[in-house]
Amino acid sequence: MPSYVREGSVPHKRHIQFRRPDGGLYAEELFSTKGFESVYSLLYHVHPPTATLDVRSWQRPGVRFEPNEPLRNRHLKTAALDVAGDALDSRSPVLGNDDVVISVAQANRPMEYFYRNTGGDELLFIHRGAGVLETQFGELAYREHDYVVVPTGTTYRVIPSSPTRMLVYETSGAVTIPRRYRNAFGQLEEHAPYYERDFRAPILKTPVGPQGEYEVRVTNGGRNAIYIVQNHPCDVVGWDGYCYPYAFNLDEFAPITGKLHQPPPAHQTFESPGAAYCAFVPRLFDYHPLAIPVPYNHSSVDCDEVLYYVSGNFMSRRGVEEGSITLHAAGAPHGPQPGAVEQSLGKTSTDEIAVMVDTFKPLQLADAGVRCEDPQYFRSWIEAPAPT
Ligand SMILES: [Fe+2]
Repeated sequence: MPSYVREGSVPHKRHIQFRRPDGGLYAEELFSTKGFESVYSLLYHVHPPTATLDVRSWQRPGVRFEPNEPLRNRHLKTAALDVAGDALDSRSPVLGNDDVVISVAQANRPMEYFYRNTGGDELLFIHRGAGVLETQFGELAYREHDYVVVPTGTTYRVIPSSPTRMLVYETSGAVTIPRRYRNAFGQLEEHAPYYERDFRAPILKTPVGPQGEYEVRVTNGGRNAIYIVQNHPCDVVGWDGYCYPYAFNLDEFAPITGKLHQPPPAHQTFESPGAAYCAFVPRLFDYHPLAIPVPYNHSSVDCDEVLYYVSGNFMSRRGVEEGSITLHAAGAPHGPQPGAVEQSLGKTSTDEIAVMVDTFKPLQLADAGVRCEDPQYFRSWIEAPAPT
């Protein structure tokens, strides 16, 4: 999505004959979004991607959500949820609404099948670990602190080279770069906190040729199926276009800082329908001589805020640990906990890393989220009584 990419071999013109060394035709595939009206790519397969041998039921366990009721701030200690498995079957949804479902996953082994979510883009945040996403666009290597944007319809599997903990956002549409960062031609503007060369596209490897039986698990807004296909999804010799998975590492994020506290929109990375994503990375604090480095108290009256704590010293937040999620619910005031403002004075920088999503519809709690909740969190702003 960020800009035009061309990988491997493609014919000099689209929609014309393009032949394999054995004289047969490569199978062209238009990978389009929003019908034919948004970004797309053209891929050239050794064999047609349509050859389906069987379609089976995929009895995927449903996720039960309950409202955030009574409405309050929550702290979910998701480190307690680590379930060994592959990148898909270890997903534990913790929060969600119609626009986005938030899960944590612990990938300890490769997926032995492919997966395709045709209900919306997925945004993966790699907390720890490294590995590769195998996709029809090529291999996309990932590492700690990467965001990985996976366009809807991408066929992929995750092959970890080390145990990989990730945060997963399953969205209902496209994950895009905020409009205010882009000029009329889509190019990133000078004030954007990242640049096109910060985004890594997949690298196409030798196409996987042999025909056989390959499993692809397909999901679309709650409808699921297992496809057994004759041709390997990664039998692509070339592609070009604007729609492909890509990775972006937080080391490349150039945070916008100021004389006074910068509110979250200054830290925005991506957006998707009903959701805005931000990243808080190591940075210098505000430089006014009387600046207060930690955020002010606030109530986000029209969105739910979900922070995922990655590493560092979370100065404004008491009791959180790596892997914690705080849900600051619409209308419920929150801010630095007692003593945090005073402790922050004079500090010049922070080493914290955290990622956030704000949702504009209320989030509900999934079973796993309820299981790992610290039920006392909403009381954590109480000041100790003054000594008498
Ligand atoms: Fe907040």
